Parts: sequence; structure tokens; C-alpha cells
Amino acid sequence: MRKKIVAGNWKMNMLKDEAKKLFSEILSMSMESSDHKITVVFPPSIYLADFVRQNNGKVMLGAQNFHFSNKGAYTGELSAGQIKSIGCDFVLVGHSERRTLFMEDDQVLLLKIKSALESDLQVIYCCGESLEEREQGIYINKIRNQISLLKTFSTEEMMAISIAYEPIWAIGTGKTASPQQAAEMHDLIRAEVSVLFGAETSENTSILYGGSCSPTNAHELFKCNNIDGGLIGGASLEANSFHAIISACQ
Ligand code: 13P
Repeated sequence: MRKKIVAGNWKMNMLKDEAKKLFSEILSMSMESSDHKITVVFPPSIYLADFVRQNNGKVMLGAQNFHFSNKGAYTGELSAGQIKSIGCDFVLVGHSERRTLFMEDDQVLLLKIKSALESDLQVIYCCGESLEEREQGIYINKIRNQISLLKTFSTEEMMAISIAYEPIWAIGTGKTASPQQAAEMHDLIRAEVSVLFGAETSENTSILYGGSCSPTNAHELFKCNNIDGGLIGGASLEANSFHAIISACQ
């Protein structure tokens, strides 16, 4: 059975004291991760080691970014192996901010996923179309192409990969996709995964929604058949709203 996942992507927010406070508040809220439902926090990587020590097992921790090489002369970078070695379990790959602001192309994304899997990390692979692509009616193909990047992986490797559908026009804008819009894309993504890896793997793949997901809209979104949780930006920076979204994910 596929897992429900609610993940908070803090992006480049929170100074040390606020970060510590928010993480403590998240931990103190009653939500045990189980085999079927997990909470993941992606803070700025500088806080990960502290958070791993502080964690009481209620959440899993992940890194927003890393380099695809194992080690070497890459000043300023972190490897997947280093992230794993401090006790993290997840990484994000393919976020639209990485694709556009940091020019990460398909080749880089493939190397990153490969490196993460080799280090026994779970990957949340993000995809999503721009407003222009939606208005031009090419958004279906855009998502198909982004999903087809995964075809080089085996069905076994796919067990460690979840997908987040994050329409770029909904990220940080307050304009969330309607449940109908999101459901159309999540159905499409599951169908694509089925074509690439077979029905069983597809049924076991968690597909999260991201983009202005909030306590107000989470419940309606999570009711859709193929929406297995959320990748939350802004609303994960406040413990009560993050908790409300986690509670909405049943
Ligand atoms: P918002 O929830 O702030 O729209 O961000 C979504 C996101 O980019 C999560 O990765």
C-alpha cells in the first residue's frame, strides 16, 4: 500500500532560533509517523544535524539540495552520502526553483536521483508546468516528459521515489490548483508511472500535491483518489497550519 506523505519544504527561511522553535513545535504535536503515513521536514541543510539529534521519531528529515558527486573538490556542496550519514532519509529533486533558478536540467536531475538512491535516500521528484504552458495547452505533455525522465530507473529503484506535482503558477502565489485540476494531473502521473513501471508499482507510488496548499484547501485536495499528501512551502513555516494539513491527510 502506498504511503501518505506530508512534507514541509522550508526553502531558505528561518534563522537558527526560529528554526529551532518551529521544529520543537512540530515535534510536540501529536503525529506519529507510521508505515502508512509519514511527515517529512526539509529545513535549510545547516540545521539538519541538530534536528536529527532533537528528533523524537515523529518526523523524518530530508535535504532540499545536494550535489550528484560522491565526494571531491566541489567547494560549498554536500553529497547524498553525507546527508545519509548524519541520519536523514529524504531528498528533494527537480523542484521548479532548482530547475529554473539554478539551471538544473534533466541530465543533472538524473545524476542526482541516481546518487540519492545509491546512498539509500528516498527521493521526492518534483514536476509541474508554468502558467504559460497551461494556457498554451501543452501542460499534459510537459508533465509526461518530466515523468519520462524516471524511465531509466528499475521498478525496485522506483520504490524509493515519490512524485510531487507542483504547478509553478501555484507555488507561493496563493492560487492553488482546484481539486479537479490537481486530480487530472495526478491521474495522468499515475497512468504514466503505470506505463513505465507497471500497474503495481504505480499503485504503490505516492504522488503529492504542492502549490499554495493550506489548511483551508488541503482537505478537498487530499480527498482526491490519486493525491497521497502534500509538499508544503509557506504553510509549513507555522506549526499550527502544518499540523492542520497533516491532520487533513487521512
Ligand atoms: P507554497 O506551499 O509556498 O506554495 O510552496 C510549495 C512548494 O514549492 C513546496 O516545495
